[in-house]
Parts: sequence; structure tokens; C-alpha cells
Amino acid sequence: MAVTKKALLKALSNVQDPDLKQDLVTLDMIQNVKIKGKNVYFDVVLTTPACPLKELIRKDCEEALLEAFDTTVSFSINMTSNVTTISDRGPLLPQVKNIIAVASGKGGVGKSTTTANLAVALAKIGAKVGIIDADIFGPSIPTMFNCENEQPSLKVEGGRNMIIPIEQYGVQLMSIGFLTPTEDAVVWRGPMASSALKQFISDTKWHDLDYLFIDLPPGTSDIHLTLVQTIPVTGVIIVTTPQKVALADAQKGLAMFKQPQINVPILGIVENMAFFAPEELPHNKYFIFGKEGGAKFAKKNDVTLLGQIPIVQSIRESGDIGYPAVMTQGITADAYKELAAGLARQVAIRNAKGNETQVVEVTV
Ligand SMILES: Nc1ncnc2c1ncn2[C@@H]1O[C@H](COP(=O)(O)OP(=O)(O)OP(=O)(O)O)[C@@H](O)[C@H]1O
Ligand SMILES: [Mg+2]
Repeated sequence: MAVTKKALLKALSNVQDPDLKQDLVTLDMIQNVKIKGKNVYFDVVLTTPACPLKELIRKDCEEALLEAFDTTVSFSINMTSNVTTISDRGPLLPQVKNIIAVASGKGGVGKSTTTANLAVALAKIGAKVGIIDADIFGPSIPTMFNCENEQPSLKVEGGRNMIIPIEQYGVQLMSIGFLTPTEDAVVWRGPMASSALKQFISDTKWHDLDYLFIDLPPGTSDIHLTLVQTIPVTGVIIVTTPQKVALADAQKGLAMFKQPQINVPILGIVENMAFFAPEELPHNKYFIFGKEGGAKFAKKNDVTLLGQIPIVQSIRESGDIGYPAVMTQGITADAYKELAAGLARQVAIRNAKGNETQVVEVTV
């Protein structure tokens, strides 16, 4: 068969994205087609950076082309990516493709640690990433990124003072910790905290972002409501440790986001501190907080288990010195990279489903 663009697209319409369950042509993933005689070039534009299915999709394309055209035609396939978004972000944050809230019920289960490592992992594979530290009373992002003494600059735009986020390890950051001594924020009342968060959302000059993480405080407070009322959140990640008390609180957190009037999709569960394994004997696992608690929780609630992160001394240490563990080498860093890839995949699946998250109108 002669090679034409039409014939090429027809052949590739037999290749499915296994996650999105549609063919590559319908998903508009085949771009920049160039045909020069018997040499054919095109891009396959995937929806996540470092897509785990990249090689599988490439192989499926090659097989479909081999079936449709004779072997004298040579194909050059360029695998690339462009993170998707739900169509209309509304007037706030038009430059942000996806907003991911990181929540838990219980405090201290590792939300901020998980957020920091996920953000850096995604930035390292080429995504544009930011974090809003929504923990107004106990911000930890400045410490975890070793930039406690940084002060953001301001830029006047359209008559408004816009805050320029601090950039560290390729991630754009905004936290109350950059603006006011933490001791001052601790005595604020709830509404002041909520308005501080609103300001972070509306008055920060984010550059283009594929993923903006919101590191939430524990519980189900005003801040959580402010968040879903102010911006259309793409989805939420629930972090929990495996023990009963943490899971009971995680259930409350999950229930809040699932309420019909809030209805924010749950992208998945992260089971943190899932087990301890001594570095010299990595296969000896000790289930200090109970075994598979997060995995069972995910199953019971019919949501994805994004990953199980062990308790590792270096995770705590790297949090304290402000150098996220994912930037080191080894199994801990690999676990976070895998978690990040899984999250990006869930975001792409959620966006492909299309039903848009609206800003929630809550009347109390
Ligand atoms: N997998 C882990 N292994 C070892 N230490 C961890 C791990 N995850 C988190 N930690 C440590 O546990 C402590 C609490 O973690 P973190 O601050 O991320 O929790 P949090 O859920 O954000 O807390 P808060 O509810 O106060 O915001 C930190 O000292 C952190 O370094
Ligand atoms: Mg925290």
C-alpha cells in the first residue's frame, strides 16, 4: 500500500492506549506526520512524562505499521509527551493544567514528605511542577526544600501585586513560611488562614505548570473547604499509614472529598511507612504499623493504591535537611519515582474521562 497520511492514520487507529482505552488517532496522539517517499516520520504524543507504557505503545505502533505497509517503507517514531488537562480551568489559574491535593485525616502520616518527593520526581522527568503549602499553621515545605530563609519578590501586574514563587530543585513553591514568621501565623484565626490560602492561589505568579500540588494540613478543616470552593481540583491523593487509627481518619478525609456537593475524584492512596526493612537485610520486612493497611483501605474504597513507601531513616533525614530522598540513588528514590509515574498516569486517565471538576458552591 502507498504511504499517505490517511493510510498511516488508518493503520495507527488500530493501536490503543491501554490506560485511556481509546485509539491513538481518536486521542489525537499522532502529530507532525512527515512523509518523504518511503521515509515516514511522526510523533506519538503521550499524556504523561516518562509514561510507563511508552515502549509497549511504540511496539504496538510498529506492529500495526508492519501489517499495513510493506517492508521497504521506513518509519521513524518519536515518542514525546504533553500533559493533559480538563478542558476549562476557569478564570483562576489558567496557566495550571492539573491541581492535585494531598490530604490525610491524621496528622504526621507523611503528606508533606510525599508531596515534596512526588513534586521533585515529576520535575526530574521534565514536568513543570509547583507546590502550595496549605498548612498555614505548620508549614513544612520551606524546611523540606531547604529554603526557609528565602523571601519571594513581588511583581506588579495589571495593577495587582503578584508574588513570584520560590524555585528550588526545579519546583515552584509558595508557603506562608516565606511571608511571615511561622509563630505569627500560629495565632491566626481560621478565616485568616483561609484567606491566606486564597491569596496564594490567586496572587501567585505561577509559570506554566503541568501539576500544582496542594500540601494540605491534617483533618477536614475550613482550609479544605476553601480549596475546593476556590479552584477546580483535578483530584486528591490520600496519604495514610497502615495502622487502625490512621485508617479511620483517612476514611473521614476520603468521605469529605466524596460528598456529593464536593465530589473531587480520588486519584489514589499512598500507604506511607508501610514497613521497615534494615538496609543490610532489605528483604526482612517488619510491619511496625500493621500489614497492608493502606492496600486494604484502597481495595475497600475501590480506589487505586498508588504505592507503598517503607519507613526509612534517610527519608526522615532528607526531609530535615531539605534534600528530598528522591534526589538520592537507590530503592527509596526508585519507590518515589514509581509513585510519581503512577500518579501521572491516574491524572491522564482522569482527564480522559472528561467529566470536569467544578469549583464547589457551598452555602452554609
Ligand atoms: N516513609 C518515611 N520514613 C521515615 N520517615 C518519614 C517517612 N514519611 C515521613 N517521615 C517523617 O515523619 C515526619 C512527619 O512527616 P510529614 O511532615 O511529611 O507528615 P505530614 O502528614 O505532612 O504532617 P502534618 O500533618 O503535620 O502536616 C517527618 O519527620 C518526616 O520526615
Ligand atoms: Mg505536613
